[in-house]
Amino acid sequence: MIGGEKLSDNITEEYWSRFPDTYDKKMEYVVGKELRDAIIQELNRLPELGELVELGCGTGIFTETIVLKTKSMVATDLSDSLLAVARTRIGDHPKVTIQKENCMATSFPSEALDSVFIANLIHVVESPSTLLQECYRILRKNGTLVIVTFTDHGMKLWEKIKMGLRFVKSWGKPPAHTHSFSPEDLASMMKDAGFVIKTSKVIGDNTKALYIIGQKDEDA
Ligand SMILES: C[S@@+](CC[C@H](N)C(=O)[O-])C[C@H]1O[C@@H](n2cnc3c(N)ncnc32)[C@H](O)[C@@H]1O
Repeated sequence: MIGGEKLSDNITEEYWSRFPDTYDKKMEYVVGKELRDAIIQELNRLPELGELVELGCGTGIFTETIVLKTKSMVATDLSDSLLAVARTRIGDHPKVTIQKENCMATSFPSEALDSVFIANLIHVVESPSTLLQECYRILRKNGTLVIVTFTDHGMKLWEKIKMGLRFVKSWGKPPAHTHSFSPEDLASMMKDAGFVIKTSKVIGDNTKALYIIGQKDEDA
């Protein structure tokens, strides 16, 4: 149990905790290895990110890449079973702490971090704007928010249908809250939360992800 837990958090936790051992394979089946590799390529180009928190790290698919850009990091998720897989994957890494956190209301103090990283999280939370406000709260002035998130924006209709079928085949019912952002929608929400947009692009061919970097406004 973590502070402020409510019924919808339990439902979310249960949903994502169902397949810890096959989570990575299912994700690869749904969105494809090419998209995952393209995301990793983008992350490899990031500059130094200082002290970073990853929210919704899942099994740590991207944790092992982003850590290379940090001074130290805390990888967090709501799901105990996915965190257990992340622990096995990351091992006893000197730069990484793994802990349970609800991304909508974390235990981190305000203005505590240089960077926040969220991969494939904002499109599955009930309130994306609350998540962005929490990222903003915990970042230092000029801090960096790196967002990667799957989207069907810009996908061909047939590719969308095929991806939907792959999802249902491997995960069953979609999670309670799913959003598909355009780059403009997400950038606008980030600006409303107090971020200046530094980078915005769509990655991928048949399946796609948005890659957006925001900086906490220095006048905030
Ligand atoms: C689509 S998965 C993405 C996982 C990982 N970042 C990746 O890209 O493979 C969504 C993740 O968000 C986590 N999650 C959903 N709601 C959350 C919340 N309120 N707080 C923390 N984690 C949450 C789930 O447990 C799951 O691990």
